[in-house]
Amino acid sequence: MYGNRLQDKAIIVIGSGSGIGAATVRRLAAEGARVCAADINEAGAKAVADEVVAMGGEAFAVYIDLADEESVNAAVAAAVERLGGLDGAHINAADLRAIMQDSDALDVDLAVFDRTLAINLRGHLLCTRAVLPHLLAGGGGAIVYTSSGSADSGEPVRPSYGTSKSGLNAFMRHVASRWGREGITANCVAPGFTLTPEMQQSGQLSQQLLDGMMSRIPGRRLGRPEDIAGVAAMLLSEDGRWINGQVYNVNGGALMR
Ligand SMILES: NC(=O)c1ccc[n+]([C@@H]2O[C@H](COP(=O)([O-])OP(=O)(O)OC[C@H]3O[C@@H](n4cnc5c(N)ncnc54)[C@H](O)[C@@H]3O)[C@@H](O)[C@H]2O)c1
Repeated sequence: MYGNRLQDKAIIVIGSGSGIGAATVRRLAAEGARVCAADINEAGAKAVADEVVAMGGEAFAVYIDLADEESVNAAVAAAVERLGGLDGAHINAADLRAIMQDSDALDVDLAVFDRTLAINLRGHLLCTRAVLPHLLAGGGGAIVYTSSGSADSGEPVRPSYGTSKSGLNAFMRHVASRWGREGITANCVAPGFTLTPEMQQSGQLSQQLLDGMMSRIPGRRLGRPEDIAGVAAMLLSEDGRWINGQVYNVNGGALMR
């Protein structure tokens, strides 16, 4: 179905045990990449990798915890050893368990704020430090971070989450400008509401919420993980080589910029 744009490229997807990351692993492998699926949910990452292998692709899973520098370094080292180098990284993980408690600036539990920043922002710094030397050693490469439309939309809720993603956009631009001359591209894909299989299975999404999301989209459906995966694949491919320091909003037009 897809071409072989990513043939033999070695790519790590961090935060790939479910949702958008899992879809990206499938998409990258379908385009010919050799993929390391890394996640704190190792069983989820392994299930996705096994699925890829069963389809004739190349993928394997490693455990990673973005809260823990040693874990990040160990995971990337294991990935690079098995892949024999690194051409790209999709850094996609976020701790979304507390997002419902991410209320407002007066009310939010500081533990929710700290954990959100620790994983969604500091964790991405740790991942960047771990992958960059390997990308540079190969003469350059691509990093794609998963941000969110909430970085720019202005919301009365989710101050921790929006702040973490806004910070990630700024951090991405730093990486793009600091290492661009050395062959690195860094970009963000910023999804709007994206209905993942895990969200659907959770039973926590009311029809009212889904209708509300749909009403903001000038299109005929909600976002799917594959919509985000396709843009990540492009940014990790040669088609994305002249794209650096950008935030790609992928949301069916729900947020226009
Ligand atoms: N689904 C949406 O509507 C939506 C919208 C905007 C942005 N996003 C972003 O897309 C990305 C993927 O989200 P998703 O919707 O697929 O959710 P998800 O929960 O399915 O994916 C997040 C992944 O990160 C992993 N993770 C969490 N904490 C971790 C840690 N400490 N170390 C390593 N991995 C960890 C989880 O296990 C999971 O596999 C996130 O960055 C999220 O903020 C999602």
